[in-house]
Amino acid sequence: MTIAIASDHGGLDLKKVIIKYLDKSDIKYKDLGTFSAASVDYPDIAIPCAEAVAQGEFEKGIIICGTGIGVSIAANKVKGIRAALCHDTFSAKMSRQHNNANILTMGGRVIGPSLATEIVGEWLNSDFEGDRHQRRLGKIADYENNSN
Ligand code: RB5
Repeated sequence: MTIAIASDHGGLDLKKVIIKYLDKSDIKYKDLGTFSAASVDYPDIAIPCAEAVAQGEFEKGIIICGTGIGVSIAANKVKGIRAALCHDTFSAKMSRQHNNANILTMGGRVIGPSLATEIVGEWLNSDFEGDRHQRRLGKIADYENNSN
């Protein structure tokens, strides 16, 4: 499994922490930027990362901005993306088990490094439960495929 990871300037420091965790855990990833503290527009970061996940280049993605909100809104505009903004481990687990989230978003200005790392661990180690949850996701996909 290779993870795509990306952040804007507001999420850069937290992204570095998560990258250290991925390295330590032997989890393959590709850092899609940003690579400096210079201000960037979060859609320019979130959309390419979400597209890469939607196209199957990566199984999952992690995107971080200041609040996690902007990148979540942007990523969820990409067809096939189910981005979940999680700032607690329970939501992270549920977003995988019930929502089959393929992108995790977090806010680098909202949570600290220890909690964020636990969230990533929980998210990566939780699996989709299918069944009734698949039916519900199917309804979202139907809407997505049939709306303009
Ligand atoms: C950038 O200042 C900030 O707006 C961005 O990181 C994010 O929080 C947007 O939702």
